[in-house]
Amino acid sequence: MRLVSVSKLKPDMVLARSIYYRDCLILKEGQTELYRYANRLKNIGIEYVYVEDAFSEGIEVSDAIREGTRVACKRLLRNAIENFSNNSTLDMSELSQGINNIVDDILKITDVQVSLSDICSADDYTFSHSVSATVYSLLIGKKMGYNKAMLEKLATGTLLHDIGKVMIDKRILCKQGKLNKEEFEYIKKHTLLGYEALKKCRQITELSRVIALHHHERMDATGYPYGLPAGELHEFSRIVAVADVYDALTSNRCYRNKWTTVGAVNHLIECSDTKLDTNLVAALIQQIAIYPNGSMVHLSNNYIGIVREQNRSMPFRPIVRVIADDLGHEVKMFEIDLMKELSITILETEIERSEKWSLFDF
Ligand SMILES: [Fe+2]
Repeated sequence: MRLVSVSKLKPDMVLARSIYYRDCLILKEGQTELYRYANRLKNIGIEYVYVEDAFSEGIEVSDAIREGTRVACKRLLRNAIENFSNNSTLDMSELSQGINNIVDDILKITDVQVSLSDICSADDYTFSHSVSATVYSLLIGKKMGYNKAMLEKLATGTLLHDIGKVMIDKRILCKQGKLNKEEFEYIKKHTLLGYEALKKCRQITELSRVIALHHHERMDATGYPYGLPAGELHEFSRIVAVADVYDALTSNRCYRNKWTTVGAVNHLIECSDTKLDTNLVAALIQQIAIYPNGSMVHLSNNYIGIVREQNRSMPFRPIVRVIADDLGHEVKMFEIDLMKELSITILETEIERSEKWSLFDF
């Protein structure tokens, strides 16, 4: 399978991953004549979908968690948050099962480099972000050697880390453009509000609650709400800081488009040791595919290709299936192993330069 812009859907493409919108299945895996749905998908903010076509045969994309686990957890989280908004009580009885399932999926992963392909629209952000950040937190926690009970506490805190945003005015929370000083100070309150809300729920341990309070604190004491130094931050909070930043960058937001994986990874590296914990950043980066399988890339030898397979020892140099030249002309397909062809590099991915890529027909 491969990831394709909805504006490039063709009659020969078959949907390779089901598409959900607000927890509802809207297009099932195996759906044909996808091009008919292009405008509707665009209208609800879905820009890319996974398809099977002649170019993508045999390319496999392995996810960190199963699609069913993700969708169910998003739905349980939505229900729990909606109940909380209505009556200020948080019922963990059902959500705990969702948390259990995510932890079980993460413990089963054997792939070193996973991709996290949540095809969601920007307005689904709150719940998608919480679930994706939880997956990243768990990948880090697993690498740090946490046992299942610790992973469940980490997952609970990550899933609910932004619950304070329920009490923040949506007009300010999703404002397009820069926030003024007062607005930013107001948004910062979601940390304290979230912590206070979680304190009322006895099923949640203090270790999980503190994540809501401290996930915006930074190693160099420049974070909020308290500007605490690294030594006063529990490892859980430092893990969620990394997971939160990484997922925020790689998601579409109401005020900007998502970054590429490589751009977000470089940003995490730049923030290492000053803002974010170096060891925890390394633990995450080692486990995610920099150029995920199925993504389109432009190579320095003037070809366009699809990433077919990861090279575990060199994540920046995967195996690429070439399908066209960079003038947009299809070529007889062949593969380049970038670990062997060291003079060739990846210049960019499709989502980095959508204007230029819009000239291509595949
Ligand atoms: Fe937050």
